[in-house]
Amino acid sequence: MSSRRGFLKILLGSILASLATLAILPASYRFRPRRGGAATPGPGVVELPLPALDGRVSVERALANRRSIREYLDEPLTIDELSQVLWAAYGITETRYGFKTSPSAGATYPLEIYAVVSPGGVRGGDGFLEPGSYHYDPHSHTLSLVRRGDLVEALYRAALDQEWVRAAPVNLVFTAVFERTTSRYGPRGERYVWIEVGHAGQNVYLQATAMGLATVAIGAFHDDQVLEVVGAGPGERAAYIMPLARPQWRYTLDAESLKEYIGRHRG
Ligand SMILES: Cc1cc2nc3c(=O)[nH]c(=O)nc-3n(C[C@H](O)[C@H](O)[C@H](O)COP(=O)(O)O)c2cc1C
Repeated sequence: MSSRRGFLKILLGSILASLATLAILPASYRFRPRRGGAATPGPGVVELPLPALDGRVSVERALANRRSIREYLDEPLTIDELSQVLWAAYGITETRYGFKTSPSAGATYPLEIYAVVSPGGVRGGDGFLEPGSYHYDPHSHTLSLVRRGDLVEALYRAALDQEWVRAAPVNLVFTAVFERTTSRYGPRGERYVWIEVGHAGQNVYLQATAMGLATVAIGAFHDDQVLEVVGAGPGERAAYIMPLARPQWRYTLDAESLKEYIGRHRG
């Protein structure tokens, strides 16, 4: 075969491979709908610091020390801390197709994340982030202001007066657009979406633990009120609230008590 024919064959092969890849990719990341133009810097758009890809706490230690913590210090978080936890929840880990920290059925990525920032809740630059509800765009790693103002009281009421919501400087709110997944998998897609909420939630727990921060997964709330507070878009359903704060106490599992516990259960 001449080198010209060989080259054409390779070219054709790679075009076919790209088309095949595109065909199996869901529209959600081929066309990446972005709410409110989050990728364009401007008023109300916060370009988050890039996340760290290494830390000082092993995954085993983060698993061992993970606990739901509901008692918080009255202190702000930094924008770096918020950036890191958002990335851990649903940030980009693969730069060809925009795959994320959380696995997703067919890479349909049904989740959206909002950060409800309390007044004086997040320190960044010379001052604090404007209080309000921000939508996270994983692709540009930006936050876009969706609703201005102190929304934490409304979120606390929506969450059945759970004090830890009101006490946290930031609450992450997870919503899901079920249609992204059910349009591909039918009714079974519903199950996949709830499973994925758990994946992203666990990422938040582990990253928070590794950074010495506190969180708790909250599932008890009035769905409609939560959606209204964050300013959710059409088709979104409320999934989780996860307060993010500095803890009043930390949990550490020690190897001796684990050994003793397992020994006791072996009879
Ligand atoms: C789906 C789900 C919903 C939850 N809802 C709430 C909630 O509404 N309020 C709350 O304080 N904790 C909530 N939790 C946290 C549990 O109470 C907590 O995980 C459990 O007590 C075990 O403690 P641990 O997380 O420290 O291991 C929820 C946890 C899950 C997984």
